[in-house]
Amino acid sequence: MSTYTVEFVGTGETVQVEDTETILSRCLDEGIAQEYSCRVGMCLACSAEIIEGEVTQPAARGLTEQEMENYALTCMARPQSDLKLDRGKYPPSIESEIEADASTGDGAAADD
Ligand code: FES
Repeated sequence: MSTYTVEFVGTGETVQVEDTETILSRCLDEGIAQEYSCRVGMCLACSAEIIEGEVTQPAARGLTEQEMENYALTCMARPQSDLKLDRGKYPPSIESEIEADASTGDGAAADD
């Protein structure tokens, strides 16, 4: 068993995470406000961009194989090295869905 340092860029928060536990689990234990919802790798609420380092996340079903190289679902991801993560960053496939939802939202006819 190994323990790795996970740093969240932007906030500078760090946690020590064993390679047998998920990053989200340790964050919750340490009182770090990591977003989450399903906790089973499907909703992407807990997504973070991997700035540096490696994770294993075979059960991260919400990500494609290619997305797994650059994004971690912290509810599923276990560190394989020291990490730098950018929380609240989502894969491009999800970002385009969010933008599409925003463009069909209300507000366009609100001035009359
Ligand atoms: S909390 Fe839903 S994918 Fe991690």
